[in-house]
Amino acid sequence: MKNIIILISGGGSNMAAIVQAAQQDRWAERYGARVAAVISNKADATGLQWAAGQGIATAVLDHKAYASREDFDAALMQVIDDYATPESPPLVVLAGFMRILTPGFVAHYAGRLLNIHPSLLPAFAGLNTHARAIAAGCKFAGATVHLVTAELDHGPILAQAVVPVLPADTPESLAQRVLSQEHRIYPEAIERLIVDLLQK
Ligand code: GAR
Repeated sequence: MKNIIILISGGGSNMAAIVQAAQQDRWAERYGARVAAVISNKADATGLQWAAGQGIATAVLDHKAYASREDFDAALMQVIDDYATPESPPLVVLAGFMRILTPGFVAHYAGRLLNIHPSLLPAFAGLNTHARAIAAGCKFAGATVHLVTAELDHGPILAQAVVPVLPADTPESLAQRVLSQEHRIYPEAIERLIVDLLQK
């Protein structure tokens, strides 16, 4: 069994889209892959309740309870690595997980740590992507799924989706248009990576 661990900080709509895709497309039967746990750094992340309702294990690790970024990441690694199976290490999926990860964490999960970012990387790494795209006069915006490397919001691109920026857009309306595409490309990219990892 390949365990997928999803890290969230908030609503978890991408997480829900991944869980639903895994069910609909029968990842367990086809690839021996399942979403094993959803972990949040925030106790009030609403996605946690949704995941628990699906029968998925949930955990909260409050980053404020740790003295350093390294300590928090070490604790997070321990929780995640409990889901390693004899056949395979876990696949770690960042889905609106609003934490900068240490180089040690990133190296530990190299090649099996994914992120989705709400811009067409390498444009607009960092925060407030939609407001920045509108302010820059972009005619198109989008989202990027990438493997995580030590540099924030960089790393090999696995998938992108493009949406138009409309004249009346606010950051919120653009975010909604982008988010609906995130829900499509993230599960697809994860499924492709699982297939790739199975062939290795
Ligand atoms: C998504 O738009 C995701 O791309 C973004 O946070 C949102 C989470 O929504 N991630 C980042 O900005 C990471 N830097 P969700 O909790 O509903 O999936």
